[in-house]
Amino acid sequence: MKDATGYTRESEILYEGGRIPGLGLKPETVPCFLTTAFVTDSLSEVQEVTKQKGYTYIRTANPNRTVLAQAISYLEGGAGSLIFSSGMGAITTTLIALLAPGDHVICNADIYGETFETMTKVLGKMSIDVEFMDLGDLAAVKKAIRPETKMIYTEVISNPTLALADLKSLAAIIHETKGLLMVDNTFTTPLAIRPLDFGADLVMNSLTKFLNGHSDAMGGSITAKTEIIDKIKPFSMLCGTPGDPFSSWLIYRGLHTVELRVPKQMATAAKLAKALQTNKHVITVNHPSLADYPQRQLADEMFIDKGCSAMLSFCVAEDREKIDKFMERLHFAHYAPTLGGIRTSLSHPVTSSHYNVPDDIRRQRGITPGMIRVSVGVENADDLINDFMQALEIFN
Ligand SMILES: Cc1ncc(COP(=O)(O)O)c(C=O)c1O
Repeated sequence: MKDATGYTRESEILYEGGRIPGLGLKPETVPCFLTTAFVTDSLSEVQEVTKQKGYTYIRTANPNRTVLAQAISYLEGGAGSLIFSSGMGAITTTLIALLAPGDHVICNADIYGETFETMTKVLGKMSIDVEFMDLGDLAAVKKAIRPETKMIYTEVISNPTLALADLKSLAAIIHETKGLLMVDNTFTTPLAIRPLDFGADLVMNSLTKFLNGHSDAMGGSITAKTEIIDKIKPFSMLCGTPGDPFSSWLIYRGLHTVELRVPKQMATAAKLAKALQTNKHVITVNHPSLADYPQRQLADEMFIDKGCSAMLSFCVAEDREKIDKFMERLHFAHYAPTLGGIRTSLSHPVTSSHYNVPDDIRRQRGITPGMIRVSVGVENADDLINDFMQALEIFN
């Protein structure tokens, strides 16, 4: 069947409605640009768009990634950001882009398990020498620096013991040899600390966590000065790790309530940590807000505004049966292999993130089979505390 244009319905239905009228209008919210490409009407326009670094193909650029990158740069106080398909996409692409065979990297021994595997498996294949150290020992870090040391890598606070990395001192050490300090801010978020302000050169966030906050999208970001971003961007395109428009749109949407969610989550975590410390069934509690936190002075210097983290961990008796019952008794917190959502979640490091770490090394770090890690949500603080307290009664 041919229509008025002289073409068939078979062809026309692909284009009908495809030209959006009024695109010059300003929608009240950023729409989701679910398109793999942007069309151009002439070769001259193709040339112009390419020259302006405009939108052509989805992997190269997409408006939803652009606006999310702007928002993350704003939060982290950086010149530019790249948006990736996941936190791991951000980390792996960045390391591949910035390091070369023969380079030496000093990495915090206490890092996220899959970051550890990237360091050993991916960088190992590239003949990059990664040395895992306790970054708390600054004299040892200084001693380990060699002419080929190109990077120090750390998380702001470690998982699950919440030990702090002294970013200012680490930046000073690595800058002496013109190397880079790369920092993972996932557990802390830019609401608690902006690592670039402490001398870091690159800051990474798993957007899958607190910044999106709704446990429904995966993404990652890198924020740095323009010359570093420009080095990483081509590798992101080649590795195929840029974020997709829909995830970027969801995360951008989630990000708009970050100021309402995360400071509340951090304040509730501090209250819960304090309450847990007073419970007779709790052996230890780890949270940087506590008066007896081992790095109290450093924490006071580093976290000055909205809190320190909505993550905490605590240890109870090493009794699997009772831990199971404790988890079953909890009304709010649920076990989930993620963190940063609006609902409180739990994990058990010994059977998850630290399963492959030998027991003696885990115990040296204070990680026992009785340890529970908590990602605090936006529930009412008293409700949450009361719920934990009633569930802990199982240890009587
Ligand atoms: C501290 C930290 N960094 C990086 C990642 C990786 O993020 P993604 O799962 O978005 O790849 C995670 C994931 O849990 C994490 O906890």
